[in-house]
Amino acid sequence: MKNIIAIILAAGRGTRMKSETPKILHKILGKTIIGYVLDSVKEAGVSEIIVVAGYGSELLKLEVRGAKVVIQKSLLGSGDAVATAKKVLKNYSGDILVVCGDTPLIRPETIKKLMEKHSSSGASATILTAELKDPSGYGRIARNADGKVSGIVEEINASLYEEVINEINVGTYCFKAGDLFEALSLVKIDGKKREVFLTDTIAVLRGKGKAIESVLAEDPDEAIGVNTRIDLALSTTLLKKRTMYELMLGGVTIEDPASTIIHPGVKIGKDTTIYSNTVIESGVEIGSKCRIGPFSRIRPGVVLDDGVEVGNFVELVRTKIGAGTKVKHHTYLGDSVVGKKVNIGAGTITANYDGKSKNKTIIEDGAFIGVGAVLIAPVHIGAGALVGAGSVVPKNHDVPKLATVVGVPARIYKSRKITDRRKK
Ligand code: UD1
Ligand code: CA
Repeated sequence: MKNIIAIILAAGRGTRMKSETPKILHKILGKTIIGYVLDSVKEAGVSEIIVVAGYGSELLKLEVRGAKVVIQKSLLGSGDAVATAKKVLKNYSGDILVVCGDTPLIRPETIKKLMEKHSSSGASATILTAELKDPSGYGRIARNADGKVSGIVEEINASLYEEVINEINVGTYCFKAGDLFEALSLVKIDGKKREVFLTDTIAVLRGKGKAIESVLAEDPDEAIGVNTRIDLALSTTLLKKRTMYELMLGGVTIEDPASTIIHPGVKIGKDTTIYSNTVIESGVEIGSKCRIGPFSRIRPGVVLDDGVEVGNFVELVRTKIGAGTKVKHHTYLGDSVVGKKVNIGAGTITANYDGKSKNKTIIEDGAFIGVGAVLIAPVHIGAGALVGAGSVVPKNHDVPKLATVVGVPARIYKSRKITDRRKK
């Protein structure tokens, strides 16, 4: 990609969210709103990124590591926010991509398309637009009789005639740096909102006879800007749909997408079935031919090998499970490594937290954990061992391979030979 620097606008408080947390740090499916925007900009091939921060900038800085952060002291509008970034850009004369930090559905391919059109047309500014059935709340794209963009009209300034325009400004644009900052210096504070609107640069550039181009987003959902918690819920639904469609097209059965939550980036192998009311969180990896749910919660740090079965009311976190293992009912496994073909009986709990630290439970291949067992970590259950129903295995009381332990606390009852039932 040609010389291009991205400016992400993220200084606003997000008053309409009615929250102490800065708007762009609210999470959708395990990831912050700004996290989605940053990832899309990076995936579009832009490596130099400036984030304009204001409200909650200390928290924001932690979230956008790798990007340069500039502080907008008073929140005087999107135009003022871009002007703030000028001080780190110095005499930069290449292209600038501006993205609103509150549009989590924007896709990398769309940003790429916008940058390519901008670069090939040589326009002064190129605007990403979308056609919405209900354009209310967004800036409307005004065009001349020749179809060329003449400006962006913010809703508060729109006439009745302009209000019915359903082509809107997504808030993502490419500019030639020199033209952008020159136009910004000429933009007047908006009389109604008392802010400097970035969108007013378009009419200024047009007035100077500069070429303005536009790219229409194929998917209007990409335009959704999160201003309220209603927008947050809508974005969640749409991002959920996007993630699940990809998985389904990749060969995963999702019995009831409406009641299922799968965070973006989760990997699931072919012919795995996800039953209803299941939650699968960020970073989880699930193999092929697994059966998950209904009513399972699989939290970060879980890796399931092929053919694993996880049933109702099972919670897993930071746990690896080997092929063919079954964890079917009312179980919690945390910080565990479970081998192949293990049976975890109903109601088994790993007590992984001792009030100070999280400890590991290791359960080796072919072990059989009876119903209602409590395994107090750190503890190691050997291959083919059997833990009797209702037993409590104290911490550091490792169970040797092929042993049977029972009771509270669990004691060795007998030891089996390799020829016994579960090792045949
Ligand atoms: C803005 C656009 C509108 C567009 C819509 C798309 C302007 C004037 N209007 O409206 O045309 O249709 O986005 O979602 O730009 N920000 C700052 N500093 C400020 C003010 C805002 O950094 O002083 C940031 C916000 O954090 C946000 C972005 O700029 O990420 C847009 O601001 P917001 O107030 O949400 O603008 P909209 O009213 O949605
Ligand atoms: Ca917005």
